[in-house]
Amino acid sequence: MLRIAVQSKGRLYEDTMALLAEADIKVSSSKRTLLVQSSNFPVEVLYLRDDDIPQSVAGGVADLGIVGENEFVEREEDAVVVRRLGFSKCRLSLAIPKAVDYSGLSWFEGKKIATSYPNILRKFMKENGVEADIHVITGSVEIAPGIGLADGIFDIVSSGSTLVSNNLQEVAVVMKSEALLIANRNMDDAKKAILDELLFRIEAVKSAED
Ligand code: PRP
Ligand code: ZN
Ligand code: MG
Repeated sequence: MLRIAVQSKGRLYEDTMALLAEADIKVSSSKRTLLVQSSNFPVEVLYLRDDDIPQSVAGGVADLGIVGENEFVEREEDAVVVRRLGFSKCRLSLAIPKAVDYSGLSWFEGKKIATSYPNILRKFMKENGVEADIHVITGSVEIAPGIGLADGIFDIVSSGSTLVSNNLQEVAVVMKSEALLIANRNMDDAKKAILDELLFRIEAVKSAED
């Protein structure tokens, strides 16, 4: 039996459940149950917050995980990227109030930036020689500039509508992201065989899409 960690709600959840369904792996949805066994394939699904998925796979609580590249890169956990899944695409971008005249990355020198992705942002700023004041906020990052908590934000952008409704302009794309299938480094042969079958089914679904 393979245990696969999946986001318990949100966009990634919808896309992941759709992929499993198309691969003919039947699992009932997360409604209140953390761990659900498939009725027709040797996997069980562990529903987690996406922040917790990289660590749960690296540490072996789950064998596999489906998680956004943004979370995987941010958490710096040691797991194998088995396959890029091509859904839940988004980007991680810097954004500032629309009214501000942006002069390039140096604009952020000495400025406060609110984000849930401090590691990725710190690295990017260092590479670009900009010293900014990075503030970690776990939710509703996009309201920070409007309430005077920060000069800018660094967050996920998908459709861009969150930026528009908060009067923000996207000024730099730092990273592109999509869903990844990740695996624990130390799976035994029995588990690897199930993973092979799962991958075979994913390939079939993906090639039917093309
Ligand atoms: C993300 C992000 C923005 C929104 C951007 O939140 O934090 O709030 O999506 O998407 P848009 O460009 O399509 O408006 P989401 O609720 O997906 O995840 P979170 O719980 O990690 O913030
Ligand atoms: Zn500060
Ligand atoms: Mg959000």
